[in-house]
Amino acid sequence: MPTDSLTVIDNRTGASYELPIADGAIRAADLRQVKVDGDDFGLMSYDPAFLNTASARSAITYIDGDRGILRYRGYPIDQLAEESTYLEVAYLLIHGELPTIAELRTWSDVITHHTFVHESMKRLMEAFRYDAHPMGMLISSVAALSTFYPEASDVDNAETRMLQAHRLIAKVPTIAAWAYRHNRGVPYVYPENDLGFTGNFLSMMFRMAEPRYSAHPVLERALEVLFILHADHEQNCSANAMRAIGSSRVDPYSALAGAAAALYGPLHGGANEEVLKMLAEIGDVRHVPDYVDRVKAGDFRLMGFGHRVYKNYDPRAKLIKQTADAVFEVTGRNPLLDIALELEKIALEDEYFVSRKLYPNVDFYSGIIYQALGLPVAMFPVMFAIPRTAGWLAQWLEGSVDSEQKIARPRQVYVGAAERAYAAIGDRRAIEVTSG
Ligand code: ACO
Repeated sequence: MPTDSLTVIDNRTGASYELPIADGAIRAADLRQVKVDGDDFGLMSYDPAFLNTASARSAITYIDGDRGILRYRGYPIDQLAEESTYLEVAYLLIHGELPTIAELRTWSDVITHHTFVHESMKRLMEAFRYDAHPMGMLISSVAALSTFYPEASDVDNAETRMLQAHRLIAKVPTIAAWAYRHNRGVPYVYPENDLGFTGNFLSMMFRMAEPRYSAHPVLERALEVLFILHADHEQNCSANAMRAIGSSRVDPYSALAGAAAALYGPLHGGANEEVLKMLAEIGDVRHVPDYVDRVKAGDFRLMGFGHRVYKNYDPRAKLIKQTADAVFEVTGRNPLLDIALELEKIALEDEYFVSRKLYPNVDFYSGIIYQALGLPVAMFPVMFAIPRTAGWLAQWLEGSVDSEQKIARPRQVYVGAAERAYAAIGDRRAIEVTSG
């Protein structure tokens, strides 16, 4: 009779162990019983980049990378992108269900009434250099929010936790827009409570002398779709940072600043910037075949292609491509699009990319849209952080009430010196220090 267990034989001792399997996983802690003798700490698993380690049981986001499936709380991403608003999706991620009409009204009202930040936050942001990177400003300002809400440290209180979630979803767009205004040297624009989430964000970004800023409905909807597509992606680098920092029971502002810092890196939220650089470097559709040949020769990688999890077309890339068409009807065609389309066409037919299952990922088309909306490249990771705030919070809230979560504290495989006697300063040998 098959049983849900794994039999392990330790060839060092000949001992056999039976480890239970649940949800397709064994528990790493079960390996601790595998010992050579009584003094042995027990067997560990070594997985430096979490390549095959589940760090949480989560009911938020489901990904099947081989089949190109992404679902939030069971709902397919394409249906959400087509039918929903970002605020509905944020509610879904946080509460687990899509809101009813009444729930959505209350939720929108609550978020809208938390969009303002304390005037001291404004002064804090004004203190940055004129050319400060907007992501650096966002990370620091989000961390600073914790000083305005000291009660946020009461993370064991469900009501307090939810209040901070409301504040963060509402205030991150305000801070993001002000970072952009700061770089441009124009006055910060306060939130408008009668505008929708994305309409208000566009107003805070682009309003100048006009008494009221009305975003083009197609662009507002396009941004809504981009926000939906970026809202969560299960245990990625920044979500893992949010959970790990939150596991120390620090307030969510501090944890979210850490998550945003993880997103800032070029291997995570910064790839769309690399795509734009690449398209500009190619410069003309006629240069695409040569460029692809150089990628195949190993000179460099095709940015915006390939994914650790998706071994099929990234479902978000498909939807972003459709969104790009709608945006360009309003803004005019971004000439880089033709280069991107040609790159995609050639790559998808080429044996090199087909055999390695390399498809466009979420970053392949998103930068082209952001550029068409008039955003500088430095704002791209910020545009990612705004919607991902809901995902980070959903992950944090889930982790906060998970009875199995303790402070995140991995083990290590120690490879340093064995015990040795202290050397007095006169007895030490100089080591060669390279300057890098
Ligand atoms: N261009 C050309 N070849 C590639 C690319 C690419 N973009 N990506 C992977 N390959 C090749 C590798 O050279 C390797 O080939 P080999 O087997 O002959 O050595 C094979 O495909 C497997 O690649 P790995 O590096 O093992 O794949 P991994 O899962 O570790 O990397 C990653 C995934 C980092 C996304 C990679 O595909 C990449 O660098 N892509 C470009 C950067 C990018 O677009 N990042 C954004 C990801 S989406 C996001 O984070 C929001």
